Amino acid sequence: MGKDVIIALDFDSKEKTMAFLDQFREEKPFVKIGMELYYAEGPSIVEEIKARGHKIFLDLKLHDIPNTVKKAMAVLAGLEVDMTNVHASGTRAMMEAALQGAGNTGTKIIAVTQLTSTSQERMEKDLLIEKPLDQVVIHYAKTAAASGLAGVVCSPLEAGKVHTACGESFLTVTPGVRFADGDVGDQVRVTTPARAKELGSDYIVVGRPITQAAGPVAAYRRCMAEFVG
Ligand code: C5P
Repeated sequence: MGKDVIIALDFDSKEKTMAFLDQFREEKPFVKIGMELYYAEGPSIVEEIKARGHKIFLDLKLHDIPNTVKKAMAVLAGLEVDMTNVHASGTRAMMEAALQGAGNTGTKIIAVTQLTSTSQERMEKDLLIEKPLDQVVIHYAKTAAASGLAGVVCSPLEAGKVHTACGESFLTVTPGVRFADGDVGDQVRVTTPARAKELGSDYIVVGRPITQAAGPVAAYRRCMAEFVG
């Protein structure tokens, strides 16, 4: 896997999703299907987008007891997606169970560390985690690596430290990306595609800066030019 831009297909219907994807005539972007679209349309949306030739990151962030996650992961891996994920806060036993569930399907499983919308203040107040956020992220990443997972979802700001702690081949998939002249929205820790590249992200996940752009294809190309070069 090389550096790539993953477009977050945060739409609530198949119609809107396909209308969006129809705009891409020359490229087949790597796409992310999240909870909104998956819950609205079910597994068939994954099969249809895959049939159009896109690589898929199925972002359902599983977090439950190990046995339930193992069984759910077996179903998701059966969809032959390229990547899917769990919450690292589900602990090592849950991450190992997720891997067992996926078996040798080739689906890469990565772990969410702390959401990019979480600030130090919110983590301390709401979760009673009082360590510095970057230390928490690195600890979660090391646990994910020790469990055998392929990488983590984290902020680009943490990508370098994750690679130092877990190795260069441990994937960093990083949302929280905004153009220098764009809206931040509800994300807290953001960087530009160019900065994410400098910081060592392997994949950037970009939603609204592309999906809500006046010209989504041009915005995607701008991301690719800044991030992949
Ligand atoms: O629109 P935006 O670029 O903020 O979209 C980012 C995408 O990445 C969303 O689909 C969001 O659910 C996802 N994501 C995130 N932070 C994480 C994990 C996933 O923003 N830690």
